[in-house]
Amino acid sequence: MTATEFNSPSAVGSGTAATDKFKNERVSADTSPERVAAIANDALSALHKVILDHNVTYPEYRVLKQWLIDVGEGGEWPLFLDVFIEHAVEEVLARSRKGTKGTIEGPYYVANAPELPSVATLPMRDVDREQTQLVFGGQVTDLDGKGIDGAIIELWHADADGYYSQFADHLPEWNLRGKIITDSEGRYEITTIQPAPYQIPTDGPTGQFILAQNGHPWRPAHLHLIVSAPGKESVTTQLYFEGGEWLDSDVASATKPELILSPTPGDDGKNHVDYNFALDPAGE
Ligand code: BEZ
Ligand code: FE
Repeated sequence: MTATEFNSPSAVGSGTAATDKFKNERVSADTSPERVAAIANDALSALHKVILDHNVTYPEYRVLKQWLIDVGEGGEWPLFLDVFIEHAVEEVLARSRKGTKGTIEGPYYVANAPELPSVATLPMRDVDREQTQLVFGGQVTDLDGKGIDGAIIELWHADADGYYSQFADHLPEWNLRGKIITDSEGRYEITTIQPAPYQIPTDGPTGQFILAQNGHPWRPAHLHLIVSAPGKESVTTQLYFEGGEWLDSDVASATKPELILSPTPGDDGKNHVDYNFALDPAGE
C-alpha cells in the first residue's frame, strides 16, 4: 500500500484514539486539597493577569470558549497538552535525575508491544519505496556503568509518512513498536527504519491554534523510548538525529542536546548508531 492508497488519517481520528487510550489508564495522583488549591489559585491568577495585560475582549473570550469546546469534542486534549504543557512537567522530573535525560512521552505510547530479544528488528510493514534502515545498538547500565541484564526498552516511532500505528487505521497494529529485552550485559541492537520529521495534525483545533499565530506544526524526526529495569527508575525519552530539520524549533519543545544521535552509513547501506542508557536507582 502507498501513501496515496488510503484516506489520510484525520486529527479527529488520531485524537479520539489518543483520548480513548488515555481514558482507559484511569489515572490518579496523591495530591492534598491544600496543594490542589495552591496550584489552581496560581494558575487562575496567571490567566487573569494575561487577560488584564492584553486587554482581552468579550469576542476574544467567546472564541476561546468555542475553541476549548472544539478541543474536547475533537478528542485533542492529549495532543494539545503533550505539545504545549508536558515539557514543563518533564522539566520538574528532570531536576531529580542523574542518569539518561528524559523528555516528553507524547500521546502515542501503547503498552504491551510485542516482546523482542536483544538483537531484533522492529515489526514493520512492506512499503514500495526505498527506506534507510537504522541499526541502533548500545547498553543499558546503572549509574556506575554496570550493564543491566533483562532491562526493557520500549521503542515506538512514526513511519516515513509521520503516522503511528494504532492512531492511523491503515497501519498494522504493532507497526514500528516493540519491547526489547537486553542481554546479560545490558546490550541490545535494534534494526528499524530511519524516521522522518513528524507534523502534528493540522486539521483540528490544535492545528488551528498553531496556524493562528503563524507557528509551524513540526517535530524533528525522533525515536520514542521508555527504558526500565527492576529496582531502577524508568526513563521516558526520545532520540533525535544530528542535522535534522526542526531540531531548533520543535513545536513540542522536547529536544535536548544530550539526546541527539549521529548515525554513520555502514558498508551494508544501513545507518548505524550506538546510544547507552544509564538508569537512576528507584525511589531516590
Ligand atoms: C510525538 O509524537 O512526539 C508527539 C505528538 C504530539 C504531541 C507531543 C508529542
Ligand atoms: Fe513522536
